[in-house]
Amino acid sequence: MIRFILNDTELSTDLPAGTTLLDFVRYNRRLTGTKIGCREGDCGACSVLIGELIEEQLRYRSYTSCLTPLGNVQGKHVVTIEGLNPATGLNPVQQAMSSCSATQCGFCTPGFVVSLAQFCVSGKEATVQNAIAAMDGNICRCTGYKSIERAAEEITGLLSAREEQDPLQFAVGNNILPAYFSLMKARLMALRERSKELRKPRSTQAFRVAGGTDLYVQRHDELDHDDIHFMFDDPALRIIRRQGNQCIMGPAVTATDLQESAVIREAFPHFSKQVKAISSTPIRNGATIAGNFVNASPIGDFSIFFLAADAQLLLSDGNHTRRLPLRKLYKGYKQLDLKAHEHIREISFTLPGKETCVNFEKVSKRTHLDIASVNSALFITMNGDLIAEAGLAAGGVAPVPLCLQQTADFLVGKHLEETLIGEAIAIAKEEISPVSDARGTAAYKTLLLGQLIKAHFISLFPRLDASRLLHLV
Ligand SMILES: Cc1cc2nc3c(=O)[nH]c(=O)nc-3n(C[C@H](O)[C@H](O)[C@H](O)COP(=O)(O)OP(=O)(O)OC[C@H]3O[C@@H](n4cnc5c(N)ncnc54)[C@H](O)[C@@H]3O)c2cc1C
Ligand code: FES
Ligand code: FES
Repeated sequence: MIRFILNDTELSTDLPAGTTLLDFVRYNRRLTGTKIGCREGDCGACSVLIGELIEEQLRYRSYTSCLTPLGNVQGKHVVTIEGLNPATGLNPVQQAMSSCSATQCGFCTPGFVVSLAQFCVSGKEATVQNAIAAMDGNICRCTGYKSIERAAEEITGLLSAREEQDPLQFAVGNNILPAYFSLMKARLMALRERSKELRKPRSTQAFRVAGGTDLYVQRHDELDHDDIHFMFDDPALRIIRRQGNQCIMGPAVTATDLQESAVIREAFPHFSKQVKAISSTPIRNGATIAGNFVNASPIGDFSIFFLAADAQLLLSDGNHTRRLPLRKLYKGYKQLDLKAHEHIREISFTLPGKETCVNFEKVSKRTHLDIASVNSALFITMNGDLIAEAGLAAGGVAPVPLCLQQTADFLVGKHLEETLIGEAIAIAKEEISPVSDARGTAAYKTLLLGQLIKAHFISLFPRLDASRLLHLV
């Protein structure tokens, strides 16, 4: 049985835990303000807020309910557009959308309002840029984005009065959220206590669902059952910690958890900017790193990043554990070195020190919400002008996310100069086996890989002569 709070009402359901939250709110609860668009996480029409207690703090994030199983909201607070309505009239976000003419047919509007409401409680700096970024998973097909941006600007103006106040309290005090939100932390704490007995110890052999952002796009019709191990059910699986020079991550850590982690921010100062090239805010809120590895897409962005980091996996089948370097996980297209019932229990990697520079590059057909044609990551450790260590990975150039081991080995021990990069690119081109598909011809992907390797060095080492690099073939 799944128990949670939907808007202001606590409820329980014995529907299969794999049922999508979207179907539950629309067809079971008749809350039809949440719309069905693509059912693939692409349009944001089905956006909801989910509030949960993380380290005793109540935190709200936006999710696409079409990809969220009921099992992922056990003990949490789900907010649909109806739950944001004030007792009378419009809330300031709805009012801004209306007065800026940011809505026409209105199909997308609930999703935009949910995303902007999430921005208001996120605690992110009140800038127009951040407000617009919060809506990066929402598509409008008729209004035109300028008027929606004006609404975001109006909301940012309202938030500028917040100063040091708690974002949730400010939002309630200013009618952005209804008053019932102020009691939600206490209600969730009580619910957590009462629902302990509802948490069945799950068979370690049950099928694993993490954020569901791959599974519910590919196989949603097969997941309408209860025999699922929900990785989001246990906050302990979301922990990111430092142990000496190692970063240790739980199997349910999401892209947003990484973005917000102090350990990651310190080790990768540009991570937050780079991660914006990966999917959208609501998808990053659900997308786990382990899910990205196991989905085994040859262009999985986190697979590429952590291959270059030489991440290590701790695998478990419930009885036995074993360690496996991520680079040995991939045996062929979507073929993994995972035994029956084995799952990823932990991910670890060495945190980059002061001498290590890190870069991630991605080329896709659209700037936002698109998978890569080719992506690449470089971890490079310098000893003066000498390359002491290198980790290089690329996606879209082989049937698997590829570790460019020979190229990395070639770089180690050499003086960093422009001609060396040309030689490294030539070796990289020998390591890959791209195919032509909808994302580009094999020749184009080969060319892109060379350009991305140059881009790594141009952005990490400004002293290199970029014009010489760009002329290398
Ligand atoms: C609109 C949209 C945009 C996207 N954009 C991008 C993008 O830009 N870049 C990108 O790389 N990906 C993208 N994705 C794909 C997806 O979001 C990622 O691959 C994500 O990291 C998958 O994680 P998840 O937690 O949702 O996995 P799930 O869908 O829950 O699971 C994926 C697979 O991993 C398995 N699994 C999960 N956790 C474990 C574990 N601990 N041990 C063993 N197996 C496990 C599941 O059984 C399943 O086979 C996008 C998806 C959508 C819908
Ligand atoms: S219906 Fe389009 S994102 Fe869910
Ligand atoms: S107002 Fe019609 S889709 Fe946005």
